[in-house]
Amino acid sequence: RPGADEWVPNTVELRRLRAAVQDCRGCELWRDTTQAVFSSGTRSAALMFVGEQPGDREDVEGEPFVGPAGCLLDRALDAAGIARSDAYLTNAVKHFRHAQRGKKRIHEKPAVGHIVACHPWLDAELRAVDPDVIVCLGATAGRAVLGRPTKVTAERGHPLVADGRDQSVVVTTHPSAVLRVREEAQRDAAFAALVDDLIVARDISA
Ligand code: URA
Ligand code: SF4
Repeated sequence: RPGADEWVPNTVELRRLRAAVQDCRGCELWRDTTQAVFSSGTRSAALMFVGEQPGDREDVEGEPFVGPAGCLLDRALDAAGIARSDAYLTNAVKHFRHAQRGKKRIHEKPAVGHIVACHPWLDAELRAVDPDVIVCLGATAGRAVLGRPTKVTAERGHPLVADGRDQSVVVTTHPSAVLRVREEAQRDAAFAALVDDLIVARDISA
């Protein structure tokens, strides 16, 4: 069976997981990337934030959420009163899926097959961190965590129960979706809605 299973060490040490992910060949996405991007944060974090996949900047720097979406997420965490030390940040897929257009690398959404292939890493992280709440940033994260298609607009902002998990799951929008809103007042409203959802997650974890 394809997938990351055979590359995931049986450990709850994040340091070992982080080292091992660089060798993963569980799907083809490792090709044409700089490196795998694992996570930031510690095992004691109460909230786990799951994004989609590393972007262009993350691929180069090897850290999740260091580009424009990460900047917006930082502001939203601040506004929601969530301390960085309480936030473990990771992605549903650990390699950057993209298309090459000349010198430019264009983001491409990971397919369901990539989400499934990469899932053993997320499972290992969940065992290691065992957060109180899992926050899914967007539909790809929802698919990965809930194991089913997830509609952000219909499901956002209230605690969901995931099959076989004892943590609450809160689905919200991806920070990139906020950045893509053209009109300023609407963008501000989208940001405020993201913050509201994060406050729901924070209150469950408290
Ligand atoms: N978008 C994501 O989903 N994850 C990152 O790490 C960066 C941007
Ligand atoms: Fe492995 Fe995930 Fe990278 Fe695919 S995307 S090679 S499953 S770490």
